[in-house]
Order: sequence, then C-alpha cells, then structure tokens
Amino acid sequence: MKIIMLGAPGAGKGTQAKRISDKYEIPHISTGDIFRANIKNGTDLGKKAKEYMDQGLLVPDELVVDLVVDRVQKEDCMKGYVLDGFPRTIPQAQALTKALESLSTAIDYVIDVDVPDEEIVSRMAGRRACLSCGATYHTDYMPSAKGEICDRCDDKLVLREDDKPETVKKRLDVYHEQTQPLIDYYSKMGVLKTVDGTKIMEDVFEDIINILGA
Ligand code: AP5
Repeated sequence: MKIIMLGAPGAGKGTQAKRISDKYEIPHISTGDIFRANIKNGTDLGKKAKEYMDQGLLVPDELVVDLVVDRVQKEDCMKGYVLDGFPRTIPQAQALTKALESLSTAIDYVIDVDVPDEEIVSRMAGRRACLSCGATYHTDYMPSAKGEICDRCDDKLVLREDDKPETVKKRLDVYHEQTQPLIDYYSKMGVLKTVDGTKIMEDVFEDIINILGA
C-alpha cells in the first residue's frame, strides 16, 4: 500500500503516518525528518536544507526528489510506504508520478488531513520534537511520560526552530501557495481522500483506517 499524507504544517501528518506505519508494517518516510537528521549530523545536505527550513521556505525540489525516488525503491518499501512531507510542489508530484510509472506502479491513497490555519498556529506552539528519533509530542494533547525527555530514545525534546509563531505563519503561506494545488492534482487522479484533522488523534486514525481497510 503506497500512501501520501497531505496537509498543512502541523495538521498531524507525522502523527498519523507513524500510526499507519506501525499498523500496516510499512516504512514511514518523512522528508522533514531526513533533513533534520542531516542538520543534526552536519552533512552538506543538512547545511543547505537548514538555510531554507529556518525561514519557513521549502528546500529546492532538486535536493529532495532524487532522495525520495531512491528511498522508495529500497527493499523495505516493496510492500508499500507512507510518505510524509513529500511531495510538496507540483514538480515534485510530477517527478514522483513519472518515477513510479517507470516502475509500473502508482500511489494508492493520498490522505489530506484537513485543519484550519487558526488551529495550526496554536498546535505548533505546544509541539515538542525529538531530533534523534523523530518522535513528536504535544505539551497538552500528547505529552511525553518523561516530561522534556523522549519516551522512545531518552534524548532531550525541543521546540523546533521553525515552530516559532512567525515562521509557522510563513510556512502556512508557502503551504497555500505551493502545496495546496496538490489536492486538485491528486483529486483528478482519483486517489484523494480527505479526513477531518480537527478531531482527536484516535478518531482521525479511525477515519484513516476506514479508508485504507483494517
Ligand atoms: P516537515 O517536518 O515535513 O514539516 P511540516 O509539513 O511543516 O509538517 P510538520 O512536521 O510541521 O507537521 P505534521 O503535519 O507532521 O504534524 P504533527 O503530526 O507533528 O518539514 C519541515 C521543513 O522541511 C519544511 O518547512 C521544508 O522547509 C522542509 N521540507 C520537508 N519536506 C520537503 C519537501 N518535500 N520539499 C521541500 N522542502 C521540504 O502534529 C503537529 C502537533 O499537533 C504535534 O504536537 C501533535 O502532537 C499535535 N497533533 C497532531 N494531531 C493532533 C490532533 N488530532 N489533535 C490535537 N493535536 C494534534
């Protein structure tokens, strides 16, 4: 099962993608996590990506497309995968469609997690992230049992640089301009499903399972 998670920054794509990955035993591929791991490790890719991410801008398509196209061809993706944060622009979506066509395959479901902008800004202020293992928490809705320490790997949790309110507003503008057109793109391909992302996390997941099948 090949799935794309769509939605504004902070809509809950990562939260739901992790649950899908656990339930259906397919890899969760988050381009944001890949970039953050590269930043943490001080790689060239990380240095380039950081310039854009800290400003709330998208990393250029050429830095992300090959990375994902290579990743989805790895052995562990043969049963499927859930893409989180990719594609984010029409050229990225077209490149993915073309690459999959050349492998005689296609995306099965695109799940748009729909949340209004006002709720996003308040959600992001409460998010805490583990830059080591990619786990995310929320101070009110999903706190770590260990306070400011990651439950999974014991590293320190942080407020992401790009989760500060002024950067979140910029990311929302970028989302509406460059990513929202993908809703139309995938709707025309007949694979788009929308879920109400304002519900509690468990109910959003139940709606997704109803789409994907138990
Ligand atoms: P990325 O990490 O992908 O950020 P994003 O898309 O902006 O998404 P987020 O991770 O911020 O949010 P999410 O939807 O996963 O929400 P979450 O589940 O954490 O990308 C970061 C940056 O990298 C980009 O800005 C860009 O610069 C670059 N980049 C990445 N991919 C790229 C690409 N393909 N091309 C170019 N550049 C790229 O939830 C948010 C919070 O809300 C959490 O605290 C969570 O606990 C809470 N929450 C979740 N669901 C609920 C709920 N139902 N109710 C209450 N709280 C909830």
